[in-house]
Amino acid sequence: MTIIITGVAGFIGSNFLKYYLRRYPEDKVIGIDKLTYAGNLENIKEELERDNFVFIREDITNMKKIDEIFEEDEIDAVINFAAESHVDRSIEDPQIFLKTNVIGTQVLLDVAKKHWFRDGRWKDDKRFIQISTDEVYGALGPTGFFVETTPLNPRSPYSASKAAADLVIRAYHETFGMPVNITRCSNNYGPYQFPEKLIPLMINNALNHKELPVYGDGKQIRDWLYVEDHCRAIDLVMEKGKIGEVYNIGGHNEKENIYIVSKIIELLREMTGDEEIDESLIRHVKDRPGHDRRYAIDPSKIRNELGWEPSIPFDEGIKKTVEWYLNNREWMNRVTSGEYMKYYERMYGWR
Ligand code: NAD
Ligand code: DAU
Repeated sequence: MTIIITGVAGFIGSNFLKYYLRRYPEDKVIGIDKLTYAGNLENIKEELERDNFVFIREDITNMKKIDEIFEEDEIDAVINFAAESHVDRSIEDPQIFLKTNVIGTQVLLDVAKKHWFRDGRWKDDKRFIQISTDEVYGALGPTGFFVETTPLNPRSPYSASKAAADLVIRAYHETFGMPVNITRCSNNYGPYQFPEKLIPLMINNALNHKELPVYGDGKQIRDWLYVEDHCRAIDLVMEKGKIGEVYNIGGHNEKENIYIVSKIIELLREMTGDEEIDESLIRHVKDRPGHDRRYAIDPSKIRNELGWEPSIPFDEGIKKTVEWYLNNREWMNRVTSGEYMKYYERMYGWR
């Protein structure tokens, strides 16, 4: 197999690359990433040394360049992780979210279609997997779960752009018969997550004795899933998912944000012995506009059809995660400092 992983230098893309190459060490992987602030080659530095991994710094909205990549190799699957992913940034500046998340997806679909649809039929065993999000369903009240048939009701520019991409993909499947799947996952956590997202941000701030900004009352609920469990689910969808289907992926692990922050404080105190890390660092700040109150996924479909279950309990996953960031403080400093791009520009001669 030769597969393309877009967004390969980001959080989930880099974890998926590692997972995939461990499981399929003979396959060829082409990783595409624009290397925005969120994409860091440091996340995949060991993989960059491998003969069967090729990294291409490119923007997924560049149709000509994406076409050239498809011209060079017979691509069997595209797994599209590339996106602007941070809700707060989408409130500040929505346009790049529409460009990358919607137009970028459409470019990938069009180029894949051009190469996979020949002489009036689709080539065998091709697959386009779109990594979507539970946020496309909007917000839940105190009860109930998102299922695959829940109507799309996105409420932030980020989730609107992801929902739009999902609809474009569905249209390519219905109109052209394109072999696609969409996966919609809940909040991931684990190594290599950019420290703007809740868990790594709180770890980074606490270690530096900075305030821990909790939006509003902190009682918003997210369903947390360890990133490796997500990677395993995507792999199963690639292998056994029914063409055209959507699969929700979730941990059945709902936690209030304030619980997560307190847990991080507790673990960091335990692991570092630093007594200045305590609850007094917590600041309740102005709430995120349009903040979704609760997300929760019902993963029955992927469990029943593909046999997937989350395998890493939250207490184990969060401990591993806090440990990873503690052991990788240099990574955290570098990816947040802006020095990182200069280093790679020197190393690879990029401008
Ligand atoms: P991330 O921000 O860490 O990584 C995104 C990657 O995409 C970065 O490496 C970035 O450089 C790259 N990228 C951005 N614009 C690009 C462009 N125009 N062309 C090429 N590359 C580009 O995000 P993540 O958390 O790893 O999320 C990956 C995917 O999973 C996204 O599609 C996101 O919507 C989805 N998702 C994330 C979560 C989560 O909890 N993090 C949950 C569900 C779904
Ligand atoms: O649900 C899946 C989504 O999870 C993905 O599609 C997104 O790409 C990913 O960013 C994530 O979105 P969230 O908005 O849930 O993640 P974030 O880490 O930004 O915030 C998690 C919760 O914590 C949310 O309720 C907002 C809150 N929060 C976040 C930050 C950064 C705070 O209270 N303080 C903060 O400083």
